Amino acid sequence: MPVSLGVQKDHGFDDPLGLLFDCHRRIELFLKMLLKVANDLQGSPLDKQHRDALEAALRYFSTAMPRHTADEEKSLFPRLRQMDAPEADEALKRIEVLEADHIAADRDHQRVDIVGRKWLAEGQLSQPELGELMTLLNRLQQMYSRHINVEDTSLFPAARQLLSKEQVREIGREMAERRGLKPVQF
Ligand SMILES: [Fe+2]
Ligand SMILES: [Fe+2]
Repeated sequence: MPVSLGVQKDHGFDDPLGLLFDCHRRIELFLKMLLKVANDLQGSPLDKQHRDALEAALRYFSTAMPRHTADEEKSLFPRLRQMDAPEADEALKRIEVLEADHIAADRDHQRVDIVGRKWLAEGQLSQPELGELMTLLNRLQQMYSRHINVEDTSLFPAARQLLSKEQVREIGREMAERRGLKPVQF
């Protein structure tokens, strides 16, 4: 199973909302990879391709995914909360649900990580472990399909309208710093 992303070139830090949109494509891709590994092998011993895919997806969700959540919760949501515009009201209502989703997703990802790493370490999973993994992955996929749709089609377009150019620049700078990159002039 190829592990390449197969996505178009990402947006830059000068377009942080575009970057967040790109991250969603990765979340969808790596979740699909986890589901494919579990469906293909049903907990039986891992061949190299499936092992590589499982490792890459677990790594993504344990290292990159928390930064995406922080981008939203620490950089984007607080700036939208400060907005004193009636157009922001709808977005603010959605943010509470989105934050609750992040907490639930984090809990599920922690369990997926434990079971997935057990599969990598021991070579196979028992039926109950596979059952738990499938339940977690299906729940995550359902949640993300709703969550990402709200962010991509409602929250981000609202943010594009509401945020000033300077605020967008600040978000981009914070996202770069979160990834250990030097802030640059946009
Ligand atoms: Fe989110
Ligand atoms: Fe997101």
